Amino acid sequence: MTRKTGGGKQTAPSFDLSCKTFDADIGLREDNTVEGLKRDIIRHVVSTQGNDYARPSDYNYYHGLALAVRDRMIIQWIKTQRSYYKDKAKRVYYLSMEYLPGKSLMNSLHCLGLTETAQQALKDFGLDLEDVAEVEWDAGLGNGGLGRLASCYLDSMATQCISGYGYGIRYDYGMFHQMIENGAQVESPDNWTKRGNPWEFDRARYMKPVNFFGHVQTWVDDQGRLRHSWVDTQKVLAMACDLLVPGFRNGQTINMRLWAAKSTMDFNLEYFNTGNYIGALEAKIRDETISKVLYPSDQKLTGKVLRLSQQYFFVAASLEDILRRYKKKHDTFDMFPEMVVIQLNDTHPTIAIPELMRILVDEELLDWDTAWDICTRVFAYTNHTILPEALETWPCSLIQRVLPRHMEIIYEINHRFMQWLDTLADGHPDPDSRKSRLSIIQEHPEKSVRMANLAIVGSFSVNGVAAMHTEIIKSVVFPEFHEVFPGRFRNITNGVTPRRWLNQANPGLTELISEKIPGNWLCYLDKLEQLSPHADDPEFRVRWRKVKRANKELLANYVRRKIGIECNLDAMFDVQVKRIHEYKRQLLNVLHVITLYNRIKANPGGEFTPRAVFFGGKAAPSYFMAKLIIRLINAVADVVNNDADMAGRLQVIFLPNYCVSQAERIIPATELSEQISTAGYEASGTGNMKFALNGALTIGTLDGANVEMLEEIGAENMFIFGRTADEIRDLRRSGYNPWHYCERDPELKKVLSMISRNVFSPRDPDLFAPITDSLLHNGDYYCVLADYRAYVDCQEQVDLVYRDQEEWTRRSILNTARMGKFSSDRSVAEYARDIWGVEPLACPI
Ligand code: IMP
Repeated sequence: MTRKTGGGKQTAPSFDLSCKTFDADIGLREDNTVEGLKRDIIRHVVSTQGNDYARPSDYNYYHGLALAVRDRMIIQWIKTQRSYYKDKAKRVYYLSMEYLPGKSLMNSLHCLGLTETAQQALKDFGLDLEDVAEVEWDAGLGNGGLGRLASCYLDSMATQCISGYGYGIRYDYGMFHQMIENGAQVESPDNWTKRGNPWEFDRARYMKPVNFFGHVQTWVDDQGRLRHSWVDTQKVLAMACDLLVPGFRNGQTINMRLWAAKSTMDFNLEYFNTGNYIGALEAKIRDETISKVLYPSDQKLTGKVLRLSQQYFFVAASLEDILRRYKKKHDTFDMFPEMVVIQLNDTHPTIAIPELMRILVDEELLDWDTAWDICTRVFAYTNHTILPEALETWPCSLIQRVLPRHMEIIYEINHRFMQWLDTLADGHPDPDSRKSRLSIIQEHPEKSVRMANLAIVGSFSVNGVAAMHTEIIKSVVFPEFHEVFPGRFRNITNGVTPRRWLNQANPGLTELISEKIPGNWLCYLDKLEQLSPHADDPEFRVRWRKVKRANKELLANYVRRKIGIECNLDAMFDVQVKRIHEYKRQLLNVLHVITLYNRIKANPGGEFTPRAVFFGGKAAPSYFMAKLIIRLINAVADVVNNDADMAGRLQVIFLPNYCVSQAERIIPATELSEQISTAGYEASGTGNMKFALNGALTIGTLDGANVEMLEEIGAENMFIFGRTADEIRDLRRSGYNPWHYCERDPELKKVLSMISRNVFSPRDPDLFAPITDSLLHNGDYYCVLADYRAYVDCQEQVDLVYRDQEEWTRRSILNTARMGKFSSDRSVAEYARDIWGVEPLACPI
């Protein structure tokens, strides 16, 4: 194939673009002494922000320090980018609708090895680094697990010197800010950049037009080729904003390139001059809505046109950027699959497949087969969803309207795929019905595009995110795809970055571990195994407990500050923080809390293991049941926390506005981690890994990555309960009757009747009836009642072990020691080896 890319090699630059000469080129030098950093902070406070340096405030100096740190990272970034060109590196493009980087300051300081320097510099100004870091707002670019996973993977790519980029959307507003008023979730806009964002570089130079609507013109060119042009479109500009992602003390910095929507129209002067000020701005506002707000639900789809526009917007801009970079060094597309791999994080960016086809066929004039060959060697798709009902579909009528040429291309892809299925002589008993199941187009209830099917057909790799999840994908969700594309499916178990989730979140534990494990174990997490022998050392256990206690105190201080509740530090910190969803079964946890309450009430003089039960998490604004569960948690908290019999024994705490930076406080203080989803529903989970890494013991079901954690940690060091995924399926098949479980179990019956009798809603009768109805009358879809007894009994085991603090600590140490597998470095190394075909360079230190 020799078709020209339309690009070509650049003329020689006037600067030497090698990495070595950078400092000399422009006289820039990184002065990482305390004095050097102070100078840069002051310079930014004065010159960049226009403030008087002599009036230090946390706010001004946060910005000054952030910019001084960014100065250092941008130098690393330029060197990193140049090295990709020098090494002719294959680029890995990670496309994700969401990222959850949390706060950047402390992470950047740790990565650059500048934490102590910054501490001293600020101290010299009379400020405290911790207070200054508090000023920063969490970046509002994601909803939950999927976004945080993407951020962990970028951290690992940077740390392992993989030539990666994260592409996404630069949302003005993140997921809502959650407040709790009268026990209920109240949402307010999360205007995360209202005080500016010192971490990003706006690249007004990279302003790419993205087309929408219009129609397709078909014509024959002078060489007799049938051509398609997408015309009369509405254009929105995509402006690149780069957020830097530093590697851990290795001199590397990569970037997230996030696209902000800018209108092609400033405002309509004619309207303005006639006094129609709103009308003058209408088009601009409409266009810029695309990157205005992160879609706050991870399950149900509404606002369809906007959501589809968001997906196409960032995909189109990203692909153009990817092609621009490739074309700088290549005259043809022959090498494209050797130089580029694009990982689709869930189906949200799948429209990239028809978009690349459109570019290659319509604009670059490649023939269909060549273009398709390129496409299917470039894209790889990660599935995150087991629930068949949550797999993304788009009505064809909608795609036809917003992206008419893409709809044609999708039909053509499907047509050829169906023809290919016809050629399979595999003796399938009913090939027609197989075709209708595998078709990218679904006919009922509305003619729609099945995005997962499109992603599978258009990718060379499809991966699940935990061993069990991948098995379910292969055997339950997409069994026939697995049959027709046997080598395409694989598993890459998720992981989390130990830099943030141990080093940054839990410095006390990191220090203690570093005493026992020399060297850079944070980049080689398997080394944690060396901790195991110390689990039997009583002196080490004392110190381990001390760290946990100190972390509990820090969390207690935070809780006091935020919601005015005094935590009992002698209680077991029992925590369930994650998105609120019925399948995650916060309800099961609440039923256990009420059971404990009843037991204490029935025996006020008895001996009970004290517990402080923490909940946190956001409910999608339109998810009625999830919001009601939050109300129930807070209603139960009200009763429990105001009952004198519970003092020193049981507390319930709902922490509003769960987010990355709050997780960093909660996880190191946690002793019991609740991972209790209905088996077969959680694809992987990554919270489960963060808790165990920080020495929490897990109570959990055999779901998602819990299964692999069990293999590593050992059944004797976890609390596993409940029905397996197969048993849940069998239970449903055999006609699950939740009444049965209620009738047979007096404790459960009492708990449910208390909710029904409005013990927790005296002023709002029947408030919680939808919950009891769903459990008792509507089939209890997530099998809460079926697992109740096993859960409550397992919690008794937890209580017993907790009373033996030596044994608890021993298990806690072993949990941490055996979490080496769950570093995102391991996951990324597997992606690199098995999917991306790139070499992760060893960490330089
Ligand atoms: P991009 O890859 O075009 O997005 O450019 C990102 C950065 O890579 C630039 O700011 C340069 O630092 C570096 N870079 C771009 N083109 C070249 C090249 O041809 N040789 C070496 N470095 C380059």
